[in-house]
Amino acid sequence: STPSLLILPGDGIGPEVMAEVRKVIDWFGTARGMQFDVSEGLVGGAAYDAHGAPLSDETMERAQQADAVLLGAVGGPKYDQLDFSVKPERGLLRLRKEMDLFANLRPAQCFDALADFSSLKRDVVSGLDIMIVRELTSGVYFGEPRGIHTEGNERVGINTQRYTEGEIARVARSAFELARKRGNKVCSMEKANVMESGILWRDVVTEVHAAEYPDVELSHMYADAGAMQLCRWPKQFDVIVTDNLFGDLLSDAAAMLTGSLGMLPSASLGAPMANGRPKALYEPVHGSAPDIADQGKANPIACILSFAMAMRYSFDAGDEATRLEKAVETVLADGLRTADLLGEEGRTPVSTSQMGDAIVAALDAS
Ligand code: NAI
Ligand code: MG
Repeated sequence: STPSLLILPGDGIGPEVMAEVRKVIDWFGTARGMQFDVSEGLVGGAAYDAHGAPLSDETMERAQQADAVLLGAVGGPKYDQLDFSVKPERGLLRLRKEMDLFANLRPAQCFDALADFSSLKRDVVSGLDIMIVRELTSGVYFGEPRGIHTEGNERVGINTQRYTEGEIARVARSAFELARKRGNKVCSMEKANVMESGILWRDVVTEVHAAEYPDVELSHMYADAGAMQLCRWPKQFDVIVTDNLFGDLLSDAAAMLTGSLGMLPSASLGAPMANGRPKALYEPVHGSAPDIADQGKANPIACILSFAMAMRYSFDAGDEATRLEKAVETVLADGLRTADLLGEEGRTPVSTSQMGDAIVAALDAS
């Protein structure tokens, strides 16, 4: 049956970048015969404006049923004074929580044309394509006991790193499944040298690997050494799987390997559905960028690359995802830049829709 895609443009530049994704989706329909059952819904401030909540029950239900959800961005100054319970961000949090999206995927991809944007040397990052899988729903950000209390005459702050083997096994499976659709290599990072949860993490990942994914190459690294290797020679990695805390740090560091926020896609995956594919929410890493909204300045590439991830990981269309990524590479190599991709060199930026049109033209030529 036709795969379903629920599009939630959201606020600020969300609808602007999503309009360019629609052009790309239309192209794959017409030129490649890829049919998607695309529907659209409201999230964030846009949903609040329409019915007083940042995500309606009806949209939540459609998200649960969809093969993939693609979200633009939520939030903006207009909604800053709202009560916490109806803030735009709550719409996104509800999606993540109710879909139980426990694996957060942050690719670090560096297109050759943008290699000079990185804070590292061109050689180190050019052509880089790695994926960090961060456990998102457990670990030290959630573990009990937690809190601040008084012991004797001083205060003590407590958080608990806690992982069950089930939580480790499921995120490990997500990482191994992804690796099979990529470079077939997983590096697991923890601190088994100093943490009990790290010892369990290493054991469970090793067990899941031996029992279910012996075809994938697995290695282990202490997370601190991993951080160093990520800066020294990131191309040694394919998929990195790690816990919530280390993943938070490592994925932000990896983002800096590649340059602009306007280029970074992401995904969050949950448990496999009846059809064997994971529940999935794809979204650019950036927010609603109110400072440039409604001016045609937004870079649509992060959202377009998020759709490419959906094709690869939810629609079994890795070749088409690669085709789309190559089209992005082509327009960048041709010198097209939205404003966020221009340094001091005084070139004229292209608009959001010019960038989208150029990517479609590059697809046509592919
Ligand atoms: P932001 O990511 O929206 O913007 C940070 C800076 O990057 C701004 O200068 C912006 O113009 C620029 N930028 C971001 N995306 C861009 C793109 N595609 N093309 C060109 N330039 C781009 O983060 P900020 O300013 O901290 O937050 C703005 C609003 O977005 C807030 O309401 C925040 O809560 C929300 N937000 C939403 C997220 C989401 O929906 N997942 C994530 C982060 C923030
Ligand atoms: Mg962070």
